[in-house]
Amino acid sequence: MKTDYQLFAVTTPGLEEVCAAELRALGCAEVRPEPGGVGFRGQFRELYLANLTLRTASRVLVRIGRVRCRDFPALFQKTLRLPWGRFIRPGAPLLVRASSHASRLVHTGRIAETVTAAVGHCLGSPPLDPVLAEQLVVARFEDDECLLSVDSSGELLHRRGYRTENLQAPLRETLAAGILMVLGWNGKSSLLDPMCGSGTIPIEAALLAANRAPGKDRRFAFMNWPHYRPGLWQALVKELTGRETPVSMVIHGSDIDSAALDMATANARRAGVSEFIRFDRKPMEVLSPPVSPGLLLCNPPYGKRLAKEENLGPLYRRLGDLLRGPCAAWQGAFLCPEPGLARATGLPLKEMAILAHGGLKVGLYLRSR
Ligand SMILES: C[S@@+](CC[C@H](N)C(=O)[O-])C[C@H]1O[C@@H](n2cnc3c(N)ncnc32)[C@H](O)[C@@H]1O
Repeated sequence: MKTDYQLFAVTTPGLEEVCAAELRALGCAEVRPEPGGVGFRGQFRELYLANLTLRTASRVLVRIGRVRCRDFPALFQKTLRLPWGRFIRPGAPLLVRASSHASRLVHTGRIAETVTAAVGHCLGSPPLDPVLAEQLVVARFEDDECLLSVDSSGELLHRRGYRTENLQAPLRETLAAGILMVLGWNGKSSLLDPMCGSGTIPIEAALLAANRAPGKDRRFAFMNWPHYRPGLWQALVKELTGRETPVSMVIHGSDIDSAALDMATANARRAGVSEFIRFDRKPMEVLSPPVSPGLLLCNPPYGKRLAKEENLGPLYRRLGDLLRGPCAAWQGAFLCPEPGLARATGLPLKEMAILAHGGLKVGLYLRSR
């Protein structure tokens, strides 16, 4: 019998709605955005598809059950009864991440120990098998009720596998994809990132335009589960690969830093999209944009993360000049944590979203007409 699960795609705050739209497009049922993610219902097919295709989620959890309790023996006894054996191989090392809010049980270390002991007991108390991969379990107490989930993703989903080295202040892949979706870029018009750094925005744009599933070349935690269905996974990868399309519009990234551009070029090659992107070493101030206008999107230096950049006002002013001058016909958008700095562009702006990035709250600004 096929079982339906309560699933939850975790997102960066601010990307819940675009992630919900992705899940609806996959045909998932009961899609409900919540703060920090999106709840939905599905079977293994939907779980595999979510991991394979979601561009904006950071992991996908299976909600195993809720237990109401106000003492540790009750937590142990009730946790024990949940169906852990469907998801965890006996002997697999467990990592339990616990949190507690407005509940009698507040000691998160002891919550984690109790859940670890209960799951071990449920699986027959086998000795630890160090060959098996570690399995993450999430225990979240809220108003004396503990929601227990198993992580199906393993490494976070923004790790698509193409970025092996890091630039100083890279944008997360999930955030770059989410911003493109918040702005409604559909892969049908040109895209230009004049401060592309390691190339995350152009690469995510190319993956989106090519309709390429971002997770098809990596492994996931669910592949270690006792009921993993490799045949179903392979069929889904094959089906989605058949739906990929060639990219016909111009995707263009440029930057002043040649080391960053080397990285961008290598990343694009590893992502399999280098044929769709043109990278140039050029200061934004002398850029001549591609002929057909589209979306100019960038993540300029913020100052807080790139400490050596100090007075950034003139740089933002020059970004404004680019959008008033050579790119006047383009849609223009950028990320910036400080509204004052964003205003230094001198452009009329609309704040499209507030997103969490590198411990900062960052605004996504769109030039309004
Ligand atoms: C925050 S980083 C961009 C990170 C990028 N989104 C990524 O994912 O790697 C800002 C970039 O702006 C570039 N930059 C700064 N001033 C520039 C200018 N005047 N013209 C072009 N690029 C510039 C820097 O070299 C740096 O790579």
